[in-house]
Amino acid sequence: MTDNLIDCKSMKKLKIAVLVSGSGSNLQVMIDAMQAGQLPIEIVGVISNVADAYAVTRANNAGIRTVVLSHVPNGKKMGIKTFEKHTLELLNEWMPDLVVLAGFMRVLSAEFISALPCAMINLHPSLLPNYKGLDTHERVLQSGDKLHGCSVHVVTAGLDAGQVLTQAVLTVKQNESPESLRLRVQKLEHQLVPFTLELIAKDVLSLDKDVISDNLALPYRLWFE
Ligand code: GRF
Repeated sequence: MTDNLIDCKSMKKLKIAVLVSGSGSNLQVMIDAMQAGQLPIEIVGVISNVADAYAVTRANNAGIRTVVLSHVPNGKKMGIKTFEKHTLELLNEWMPDLVVLAGFMRVLSAEFISALPCAMINLHPSLLPNYKGLDTHERVLQSGDKLHGCSVHVVTAGLDAGQVLTQAVLTVKQNESPESLRLRVQKLEHQLVPFTLELIAKDVLSLDKDVISDNLALPYRLWFE
């Protein structure tokens, strides 16, 4: 993220809706950058599928419109179809330029993705296309890979399969534990998310819903020790 306070305040803002399920540390990074005027973004709403996710507290503390879609009125857990229906209604009302999945832990259907009013990106804790799905740090250690990191990719119907836009890369240390790797990758995520949003907001990455950038230079990479 470049130090461009004045520039950002005068720029047209990228309107973002964020879907969350967990602690929301990446949401917090976006909130902080928005509030400090360090990124030309406006978080127009947050949707959580988990009622007690700390991300909900973070969004509420920031005064951001926040909707929890976790249960139906009779107390049963909300099914994915109902979640998608309500989420589409909200997104059509909020009209974001971009939906960001930041620790959102449910798989969304192809129908939902194609009905969205804008593009959607996801943050994933591995160097895609390696290690799609869960438990990425454990699997990297088991394989003995030297490089690991995180990716931001366009969401398509295939699990963690859409165009990879950006990655942050680190070197795996000898005898490193999954928890140590998780924490190091999380720090990278906190840099990769604003880096990616800045590229999109400034149109370096074009994310028109149907014309995802086919730039051969992708993914843009940030390298760390
Ligand atoms: C991140 O590790 C992200 O890669 C994964 O879920 C985690 C979200 O963390 N998809 P947080 O909720 O932003 O703290």
